[in-house]
Amino acid sequence: MIEFIQVEKTYPNGTVALQNINLTIGQGEFVAVIGLSGAGKSTLIRCINRMHDITSGTLNVDGTNVSQLKGKEIRRFRRRIGMIFQSFNLVTRITVIKNVLVSFVPDLPMWRKITGLYTREQKLKALEALEKVGILDKAFIRVDQLSGGQQQRVALARTLAQSPDIILADEPIASLDPVTAHMVMDDFKRINQDMNISVIMNIHHVEIALEYADRIIGIRQGAVVFDGSSSQVTKGILDEIYGGKTEEIADRSEEKSVYVR
Ligand SMILES: Nc1ncnc2c1ncn2[C@@H]1O[C@H](COP(=O)(O)OP(=O)(O)O)[C@@H](O)[C@H]1O
Ligand SMILES: [Mg+2]
Repeated sequence: MIEFIQVEKTYPNGTVALQNINLTIGQGEFVAVIGLSGAGKSTLIRCINRMHDITSGTLNVDGTNVSQLKGKEIRRFRRRIGMIFQSFNLVTRITVIKNVLVSFVPDLPMWRKITGLYTREQKLKALEALEKVGILDKAFIRVDQLSGGQQQRVALARTLAQSPDIILADEPIASLDPVTAHMVMDDFKRINQDMNISVIMNIHHVEIALEYADRIIGIRQGAVVFDGSSSQVTKGILDEIYGGKTEEIADRSEEKSVYVR
């Protein structure tokens, strides 16, 4: 369970990125965080794994007060939280399987990770993770030979191999074409449902957020302006989240959905 209690985040330059955030996210939820660019979506999810420190308030993850973690404790804590980025963050000049195996040795330098020896059990676990995202046949291919969608699935497999309780995803489909985006979203959904892993995802595409997430958190200027189930989201609510710029966004997602169908 993730719990934000009156969380505020001000960057050193004075930018207030989060204000009075109060949220409780239960294990196994699929949450989409939506809002305009600059609203605070990335800051919100990056506080959860201590990529950013909060300025005030309390943030608990499964009873652990995240702000109080130190050094080794932070690394151990982060092992339970997978992070997926728009840009995949893979080592593209090595094979898919090696990229997944990297998740087993988080504290070693990169050269050890790449040349490292792994146990049979770890290799099986890595292959299993690749199977879960449907790219087992790509295990021994170099990452730079894969499409963007396949690369994002490698990133997802790498995260799965660490058996996380939570996956944080920051715009994971932003650089993918609509068809591939849906395939990657299907993977997230399946992982969420089959393995009861919580998914908290920042996402630009409202229509896809509503289609896949159970719960929508709308952020505007660092504050939560909507928190409810996807089915409760109306045009009026989107207007509030996007400050009346919904038309623009609707136009864009319409173009995309035409392409998908
Ligand atoms: N490292 C940083 N230093 C200062 N300001 C930042 C930093 N990162 C983000 N911001 C600012 O904080 C606000 C929220 O940013 P962000 O969380 O990245 O929003 P989003 O992900 O919704 O686009 C924005 O005004 C942004 O410019
Ligand atoms: Mg962002």
